[in-house]
Amino acid sequence: MATLFDARFNPTDAPLSANDLLSQLDGQDVLVSSITDRLDADLIARLPESVKLIAQFGNGFDNVDIEAAYARGVTVTNTPSVLTEDTADMAMMLMLALPRRLVEGAGVLPRDGTWPGWSPTWMLGRRLRGKALGIVGMGRIGTAVASRARTFGLQIHYFSRNRRPPAVEEKLEATYWPSLDAMIPEVDIVSLHTPHTRDTYHILNATRLEAMRRDAFVVNVSRPELVDEEALVRCIEAGQLSGAALDVFENRHGLSERLLQLARANKVVLTAHMASATLEARVEMGETVIVNIRAFVDGHQPPHRVLPENRSTRPAS
Ligand code: 8YV
Repeated sequence: MATLFDARFNPTDAPLSANDLLSQLDGQDVLVSSITDRLDADLIARLPESVKLIAQFGNGFDNVDIEAAYARGVTVTNTPSVLTEDTADMAMMLMLALPRRLVEGAGVLPRDGTWPGWSPTWMLGRRLRGKALGIVGMGRIGTAVASRARTFGLQIHYFSRNRRPPAVEEKLEATYWPSLDAMIPEVDIVSLHTPHTRDTYHILNATRLEAMRRDAFVVNVSRPELVDEEALVRCIEAGQLSGAALDVFENRHGLSERLLQLARANKVVLTAHMASATLEARVEMGETVIVNIRAFVDGHQPPHRVLPENRSTRPAS
């Protein structure tokens, strides 16, 4: 970016305050944001006139008020595709980690340095093969998770805004459920792969969590807002649900002590928003940001433009 553009950088990994961000943007054409920058309607209204593009470094863009940007004639782009496979790997890894007690098992030797030795009932987990996986959101990442899960012998069920073509369903031997409420009690794992929007906020609410099978569990590598975390914790504490494997969790006001307690009790596996954290993905995300900016400043439609829901036309500029 420094080579191609007159770029100003935040030299720290800490997000800038709204005021610092705005002062840095004075006279700039493009803002490169990431999930930790809350670009709400108020901040977008205060953007300097010069800013015409928000180039998000990330697939998800729920930190940006797309409607407000669109209304102001500011284009928004994201970096899809390049993190699909790594994110799907992480979902699969979490799906295996919980029933096979990976975190707990891997902690035994480093903690004690001793081991009583193998016995028939040592570290018994649960088999994954043959279980029913319910995918919520069969987009790029959901589909990549489904194809991995198929290889691991899971039966694929899915709920999605758009039903996938028959060829995709046949390949994955996937069952489509037009109703999420109908799918939930029929699966052993619910894995979330839908963006956070107004419609998907708490898509796994208390009623749905309570409708899950007692030995079922939740996997979330998407956004914390998709799950009613308080209800999730309550269901696991009460033994109504066997657990959860979460790469994302509510942390704006600090991590929930009850959730941490469940992680210490090995009912929950917690990874710290690492799903797309590979060197390769981050480099390709950066390159995608640059491609979006280059196209835009050269007067072309950037390849990864995001639009407010239900819109497919260019904003008035
Ligand atoms: C990103 C993510 O690294 O791309 C996404 O949607 O959740 C992360 O993996 C992060 O959003 C960077 O902005």
